[in-house]
Amino acid sequence: MIIGNWKMNTLREEARTLAESLAELPVQPTTRVGVCPPVIWQQTVGEVLKGSPVMVGLQDCVGDPFGAQTGCVNAAMARDAGCQFVVLGHSERRQRFSETTDTLIPALQAVLEAGLFPILCVGETRDDRDQGRAIEVVDAQLAPVLTAGLDLDGLVVAYEPVWAIGTGLSASQSDIDTMHTTIRAILDRDDAVVLYGGSVSPESAPDVFASQAVSGALVGGASLDIEKFAAIVAAWEQR
Ligand code: PGA
Repeated sequence: MIIGNWKMNTLREEARTLAESLAELPVQPTTRVGVCPPVIWQQTVGEVLKGSPVMVGLQDCVGDPFGAQTGCVNAAMARDAGCQFVVLGHSERRQRFSETTDTLIPALQAVLEAGLFPILCVGETRDDRDQGRAIEVVDAQLAPVLTAGLDLDGLVVAYEPVWAIGTGLSASQSDIDTMHTTIRAILDRDDAVVLYGGSVSPESAPDVFASQAVSGALVGGASLDIEKFAAIVAAWEQR
């Protein structure tokens, strides 16, 4: 699975043009490709990608039902808009909006109940890694999910070391393999989908995808450049 996260980028015409290129992307039937545009362009992008193999999702949603929540959208809205998945707990939201896995549980539940799949992001900071606490931190981020009594069929986890996001840095092949293997053990699901994210590029993708414990990538910056994104999809298919 290769997912592009456009974050807070693109004006409408850029979003439409990128989506048109995505719709033309050659994708093998076994590869799942998706994109999360800014929520305001979701409809524009969704219309372009309708009937193509590329899935559309949201970058975030809240767990609340309908009501007085200024600026928020919920999982029922995401489904009604034709989304197939929602990213939850991205580190940019954890840092800026104080989200924690505990506060994300209602959203996770709502996304699962809406029949969409959540992509739950976890990952340590540079300090955590330097202090040898990377696995402990990721374990603590996943723990509330496992004890919440949710039916986790369809859950996708994205391991994104915070220090690797948007920095051009990447975790080493062996650290990626160790962390992904650990996450699979924590989830205790043979079919767990665990993506890697953090400056994934056409150059870094072959190394990232070398680990059998990696199920694909969550791609930020490089997803805004269709040639780079296509090269990452191709690297996945050639691994
Ligand atoms: P990046 O972003 O590829 O630009 O590092 C990844 C992410 O935040 O999902």
